[in-house]
Amino acid sequence: MKAEVGGCQCRKQSLIEDAHKEKEVLPVPDCPEINNRDLVEDNSTTLNLMFTATSPSTTSLNSILKILEKYEANVFHMETRPALKYNKKEDLECYLKCFIPNSFVNILIYSLKKVAGDVKIVKDDLPPSFPKKVQDLDMYRQHLIMKFEPNFDQNHPGYGDQEYKKRRTYFAELAFTYRDGDALPRVEYTAEETATWKQVYKSLSTLYPNYACKQYLDAFQQLEKYCGFTENSIPQLQDVSNFLKERTGFKLRPAAGLLPARDFLACLAFRVFPTTQYLRHPSTVMHSPEPDCCHELLGHIPMLADKEFAQFSQDIGLASLGASDEDIEKLSTLYWFTIEFGLCKQDDSIRAYGAGLLSSYGELKYALSNKPELRPFDPEITAVQPYEDNCFQPVYFVSESFDDSKAKLRQYALKMKKPFSLCYDPLTCSVEVLDSIQKVQTSLSQIIDELNSLCSALNKMCKT
Ligand SMILES: [Fe+2]
Repeated sequence: MKAEVGGCQCRKQSLIEDAHKEKEVLPVPDCPEINNRDLVEDNSTTLNLMFTATSPSTTSLNSILKILEKYEANVFHMETRPALKYNKKEDLECYLKCFIPNSFVNILIYSLKKVAGDVKIVKDDLPPSFPKKVQDLDMYRQHLIMKFEPNFDQNHPGYGDQEYKKRRTYFAELAFTYRDGDALPRVEYTAEETATWKQVYKSLSTLYPNYACKQYLDAFQQLEKYCGFTENSIPQLQDVSNFLKERTGFKLRPAAGLLPARDFLACLAFRVFPTTQYLRHPSTVMHSPEPDCCHELLGHIPMLADKEFAQFSQDIGLASLGASDEDIEKLSTLYWFTIEFGLCKQDDSIRAYGAGLLSSYGELKYALSNKPELRPFDPEITAVQPYEDNCFQPVYFVSESFDDSKAKLRQYALKMKKPFSLCYDPLTCSVEVLDSIQKVQTSLSQIIDELNSLCSALNKMCKT
């Protein structure tokens, strides 16, 4: 079937066949997923399709698009990612959602099968696929939200700066070629980049003693002592990743830019934090329209060294696996108002723990002034709070403690509508779908073993 796409002889045959089939609705014996119950009464239906666009993928996609157009398919969602099955870099696994006249459903499937591999109809209520093990995150490496990048955003300070864009391409290639298990790329930063870092570092570190939470300050001190955090040089991701791994099991992987919410949250589920390595444009040292390494290293990294916070972060990630689009939006909002812009109680005061605050001189001071409204963290309310993308938040949420936030988040996640439960195995960095009694029993017996071990330790202490 793959050879037919590019072969002239078969293409001719295919065109003739298409012309014939256009006027008839074909039975699709090898596609049993289709039945009349899937067709809605107004003579059109929503189809969820999965298929593989084989290499050369541009030719294959071109043919697929022509077929979709020919059969009046109104496409309103499409995703692609590298197809692991064929082990060829250019093959793409595609998911497509479209609205199509009922009379064209069978011919559409029939035609797609000629130009694409593994054409399948998937039920609409199937949960989205998700990575099962940490290595699966490699599949997400090429998905980026490009709208804030210097190549696409005319308001980006680096938009007209060819040198800056060239440097960004270098960083993007480092991220795109990275695979789980590789050493994190070491970067030789330029004098200009180091000067940018120095300015940001110096400005923000003067605020931390009065604005950052205790967990942040403790970790920051450790990072300065053991991990090369200094105003004079930009820490290398590998060193920072080693530091985190020892403390909370989190590790870093390079990111070329902003990831889609679902992909980003999935990384957290495996205690992986996608981290950009490039610097903001030197013309706007105190502001960046997208995450850069100043934001990652000064904003996120210290908090990821705290065990409670790390668990909270992973819990948001685990809740996201297989979640509906609606729930992903809510979890992203929760992420925004906690991990990015969260405040917490500390003794009699309120401090910042969110990375968006701790990497922003202006907003850190603003958030802890008496100007914005502060509300207690409540996942049900926080998850639907509208947020500001372009200016300071009018509302911030305050956590009682990370333990309290974690408990509330877990209660919230339990109420999410997912047809399965997951169990994370820290030894293999993988998740198991608990879809059989045997799997639940195995997980329970592991927990019982651990409980017995803890009870034994407690008994020994009580006897002494
Ligand atoms: Fe961030």
